[in-house]
This record gives sequence, structure tokens and C-alpha cells, in this order.
Amino acid sequence: MNYKQIMISGFLLWLFSVIGTTLVAFTQQNTLELIAANEKKVLLRNLYALIPADQMDNDIALDILEVASSELLGTDLPSIVYRARKAQQPVAVVFNAVAPGGYNGNIDLLIAVYENGTVAGVRAVKHNETPGLGDSIEVRKSDWILGFDGKSLLNPIIDFWKVKRDGGAFDQITGATITPRAIVKAVKKTLQYYEINRENLYQ
Ligand SMILES: Cc1cc2nc3c(=O)[nH]c(=O)nc-3n(C[C@H](O)[C@H](O)[C@H](O)COP(=O)(O)O)c2cc1C
Repeated sequence: MNYKQIMISGFLLWLFSVIGTTLVAFTQQNTLELIAANEKKVLLRNLYALIPADQMDNDIALDILEVASSELLGTDLPSIVYRARKAQQPVAVVFNAVAPGGYNGNIDLLIAVYENGTVAGVRAVKHNETPGLGDSIEVRKSDWILGFDGKSLLNPIIDFWKVKRDGGAFDQITGATITPRAIVKAVKKTLQYYEINRENLYQ
């Protein structure tokens, strides 16, 4: 190989490495943007499923409040609360809460609470529970999570905010008690958070 050939080979090597690196960086950036866009789409779908459109006249996705991290919400960082209003009157708030005790770690939840403290609905938005077992918390797999609708800290009374296996009022999922246990606890604690903070949440 003469000097010219070595220079050409070196140049080609450099060129391919630059193209390769650029492509990887571009794909990574695109993927992150796609994930963020998908998460936003899922969030909006869930918000509108939790609070029916005819119950509010504001844009719930934009009427947000940042709240400090809280043990009751299971959060280590500040989180966003969405507010639904009608004729400027409070209707419901939707919390981003975390159930830390899932079978496979954290379960991210959206928990909607009507102004009077009853649950408007709960959705599991991110989790690593086992397909066929713990993933029955997803509304597209089973209606287990709809069992929280209309519940409050008075219905059932606080001592019964447990799965039936533990002497409480909530169904477990056959063969998978750990996942529902974690979610029942997280919803109860979110309602407690609501009771303590309700005055500030709509401001
Ligand atoms: C591979 C594997 C995956 C499991 N995944 C889950 C799960 O996602 N959620 C859950 O609650 N239990 C899961 N379990 C079962 C738990 O270990 C435990 O047995 C169960 O939650 C207890 O429920 P039970 O008292 O109704 O049997 C899994 C078990 C195995 C072996």
C-alpha cells in the first residue's frame, strides 16, 4: 500500500465512523422524542377517561399544579397534579402517585379524586408486573382497577382499605396478591394526602 492508499483508507474509516456516530445520535434523539410524545398521548387519554368530558369545561392537561415530593404520594420528586373545573368550580384532581411495593418494583398510577374526596378512577400507567398475573391491573386486561371508583376514606372505612386476603374490602387478583396490595395502599395514602392538602390543590 502506498502513501496515497493509506490516506484514502484512513479518510474512509474516519468518514464511516462520523456517519455511524451521527446516525446513532439521531436515532436516539428521535426515539426519546417518540417515547415522550407517546407518554403524553397516553396521559391525555387517561385523563379524559378518568374525568368524563361533560364534567369539566377547563383544559385539565394545562390546569396543572406542581406539588412537592410526598411519602403519601410515593414520590421522591415534585409531581404534577391536574385539576378539572366546571364554571370555575373545583370538580376533581388527578394525582401522579407511585405504589412502591409492586411485585417488580414501582407502579406508576394516575389517581383521580373528586372534590368531595371520592375516587373518580385509578389507572396504572407504568409498571413491570408479570404478564398474566400482576398486569391485570391494566384496564385493557381486566376491570380490577375499576373497583376503586366511588370509594373514599369513609367507604370502606380506613381499616378495610386492604385486600380481602388481609381482612379488607378489596378483591385481590387470583394468584397475584402482592400487586393489588400495593395499589390499595397507594390509593388509600393518596386519599389521605388529598384530605390534608385539599384546600391548596385548586389554587
Ligand atoms: C414468576 C412469577 C411472577 C409473579 N408475578 C407476580 C406479580 O406480578 N404480581 C403478584 O402479585 N404476584 C406475582 N407472583 C406471585 C407472588 O409470588 C405471590 O405468590 C402472590 O402474589 C401471592 O398471591 P396469592 O396469595 O393470591 O397466591 C409471581 C410469581 C412468580 C413465580
